Amino acid sequence: MSITEKHKKLERNVTLLGVGALVTVAIGGIVEIAPLFWIDNTIEKVKGMRPYTPLEQAGRDIYIREGCYTCHSQMIRPFRDEVERYGHYSLASESMYDHPFQWGSKRTGPDLARVGGRYSDEWHVQHLKDPRAVVPESIMPTYSFLSDTDLALGDPAANLRALRKVGVPYTDKDVKMAMADLKAQADPDADAGDLEKRYPKAQVRDFDGDPNRLTEMDALVAYLQVLGTLVDVNSAAAQEDLAKEKGR
Ligand code: HEC
Repeated sequence: MSITEKHKKLERNVTLLGVGALVTVAIGGIVEIAPLFWIDNTIEKVKGMRPYTPLEQAGRDIYIREGCYTCHSQMIRPFRDEVERYGHYSLASESMYDHPFQWGSKRTGPDLARVGGRYSDEWHVQHLKDPRAVVPESIMPTYSFLSDTDLALGDPAANLRALRKVGVPYTDKDVKMAMADLKAQADPDADAGDLEKRYPKAQVRDFDGDPNRLTEMDALVAYLQVLGTLVDVNSAAAQEDLAKEKGR
């Protein structure tokens, strides 16, 4: 049987053709998927990236509870219009400790991946209490209750332990100190030296304008102010490119 005859047979028998197609696609699938089971990580860790402090993490939980993600993404794509508006495009490593991640392109409001440090705490508090007070044309809902609601402390150590189970590298000391860290970060009078050592670039201050209370506003603003500030993106992007070259 010549090769054309063999092919004719294959083409005219739907079962044979189906099996042949399946085998071909399976090979492609295995080649793509199998290596993922053997390499330890697909994301190169970059300098400066660290897990969230307990207060930032509490703010992140409020962000998710309030559905901020339904209008805001945290992923700057490498397109000129996005980079000019929001800053350096997001690196994979910048969301490696996010559970769940906040990627996406559905944006009713602007991307928040690099909003940290762009506005003052007072601006954020004002804006969350009444967006129209600072941006007259805003359609963002009001969240003034966050200032009146004491942060439910719960069991921050348990949160960190749960995150550790899915790969966030909190140390035993981070877990042990979780409650103390949570309170110290928003308390200008507390000794936060140890917190700052374990969480570099942690911003320690009263965030909501009321130093006598630890509110949900404190936690949410602490979270917003850290977004995009941990990594020196230009050198980190170069590092990521280099790692990709090596992996090739
Ligand atoms: C219904 C959609 C919607 C929801 C929900 C929403 N926002 Fe917004 N947000 C907007 C829009 C639109 C803007 C742009 C106008 C403005 O600045 O108010 C905005 C702007 C912002 C800005 C300023 C960003 C910048 O770069 O100027 C921040 C910060 C922000 N939102 C945080 C939040 C947080 C935190 C939550 C959840 C508590 C939230 N938003 C929920 C629509 C929304």
